[in-house]
Amino acid sequence: MRSVPVAIPEYSATLTSRRARVVTMAKNATPMPDAELAAHIGYRRSVRRYRPASISRDVVERLLTAASSAPSAHNKQPWRFVVLDTFDSRHTLARAMGRKLRLDRTADGDASESIEADIDRSYQRITQAPVAIVLCVDMHDMDHYRDQARNDAEYLMAVQSTAMAGQNLLLAARAEGLGACVMCAPLFCPDVVIESLQLPRQWRAQMLVTIGEPATPAKERPRLPLDQVTQWRSRQ
Ligand SMILES: Cc1cc2nc3c(=O)[nH]c(=O)nc-3n(C[C@H](O)[C@H](O)[C@H](O)COP(=O)(O)O)c2cc1C
Repeated sequence: MRSVPVAIPEYSATLTSRRARVVTMAKNATPMPDAELAAHIGYRRSVRRYRPASISRDVVERLLTAASSAPSAHNKQPWRFVVLDTFDSRHTLARAMGRKLRLDRTADGDASESIEADIDRSYQRITQAPVAIVLCVDMHDMDHYRDQARNDAEYLMAVQSTAMAGQNLLLAARAEGLGACVMCAPLFCPDVVIESLQLPRQWRAQMLVTIGEPATPAKERPRLPLDQVTQWRSRQ
């Protein structure tokens, strides 16, 4: 299937004005009937720099409500959220994850300037966002089996459910006029996250989502054409 350009409305980074922009949609695809939803889905971008303006608890609760509206396996809702809405809480996590990253990358034999630059960039991103939310998985209410293969599948379903909550969170943030970005760092050091934030032992961190008013417009990231990632089994 070939791609053709189609104009759909877009919000600017501050969401104060609308303008038309051209994106590629699959040939023959008509625009989604709900233009606002289409704009939120189509123009959501990872925003990594934020203005210092704080976000009210009310807004954060709306984002969490959207996140928990996601589908989940057996409706077990295995997601858990840790809201870091103070500088101290973000500093504590960023410092602890930075120490682990330094250990890991030093063991890999990486150059120390490169390691420190990486740690510093991550620290700045986490601490300068007015809010960061850690999304965790808790397997407590999920099914448990006698064999590893089914336990692995069950864990994967919990992770999938939590990822869906994450996407709801990103779209809800955009609908609130906010930018957001997923950071995978906690996934590489779940025990560090538990210890530094004093979480229940079974909360396995999956991702961190930073949220705030966009300071700069986000970069455009191209997507693969549908025909590279799709196989159809339609009747000819
Ligand atoms: C599972 C996952 C992990 C990600 N981890 C990071 C990260 O650690 N740091 C970062 O800057 N962006 C991260 N991202 C954001 C991606 O880089 C981004 O979604 C991708 O480049 C597409 O850009 P867009 O979100 O602006 O469309 C992550 C996204 C996902 C889904």
